[in-house]
Amino acid sequence: MKLTLHVWRQKSATDKGRFVTYHAEGISKDMSFLEMLDVVNEGLIAKGEDPIAFDHDCREGICGTCSLVINGVPHGGDRGTTVCQLHMRRFKDGDVIRIEPWRARAFPVLRDLIVDRSALDRIIQAGGFISVSTGNAPDANTIPIPKKEADLAMDAAACIGCGACVAACKNASASLFTAAKISQLAHLPQGQPERDIRVIRMVEQMDREGFGSCTNTFECEAVCPKEISVRVIAEMNRDYRTALRRACLGPEPKVAAGGN
Ligand code: SF4
Ligand code: FES
Repeated sequence: MKLTLHVWRQKSATDKGRFVTYHAEGISKDMSFLEMLDVVNEGLIAKGEDPIAFDHDCREGICGTCSLVINGVPHGGDRGTTVCQLHMRRFKDGDVIRIEPWRARAFPVLRDLIVDRSALDRIIQAGGFISVSTGNAPDANTIPIPKKEADLAMDAAACIGCGACVAACKNASASLFTAAKISQLAHLPQGQPERDIRVIRMVEQMDREGFGSCTNTFECEAVCPKEISVRVIAEMNRDYRTALRRACLGPEPKVAAGGN
């Protein structure tokens, strides 16, 4: 395959950046998108030019490091697929492809296609630890968890922290990511002691980092490589309101059976 690539090149965080056009030749349809970029980079290095900088690690859809916007779509538009798992058979010979970094105020570009996603780490850090009883290791399954709750927790825990949800959102909201990280503990008994303080701290950190608000366009869910449901955002909003009310007014009074 022969391709024309318009790639975002930016020397540093302070450089203005611009698109540069490259012609990729000899690309196999069996290559992954990142392998295609490797071939382009080998050509650039052979010519003594700077290779295109892009993030990647596992190349197996696990780590959440790869982060490219391809033709305007984070991760390239294959449903439930990270860009490292996107293959060139999705493209045609002669295609023109535009490649950009995640775009969001909270994700400053460091170089070319690499952005600083440490804002997501700070949201997780704001959530703090869960308290555990120390002592001997408990036997497996001593804490019974209904299957439905375990499944909901596992669905949320599938988030790999890639940030595509932010890149896809017109408000650059990190609501899907933050909500997934809150939800994975909110459905487990181990997440209950710090449930209120965790949601308050994580939502407030999300706001401090400069992410926008959620306006329910659901672009985040559409591009999420782990298909995290926007349901978790509704859960986060409910938990946040409940936690604030309890912080201000104390626990809700219990209504006696048969009373009004
Ligand atoms: S919610 Fe999905 S898109 Fe957002 S960071 Fe997690 S895995 Fe990536
Ligand atoms: S490189 Fe790890 S998920 Fe893509």
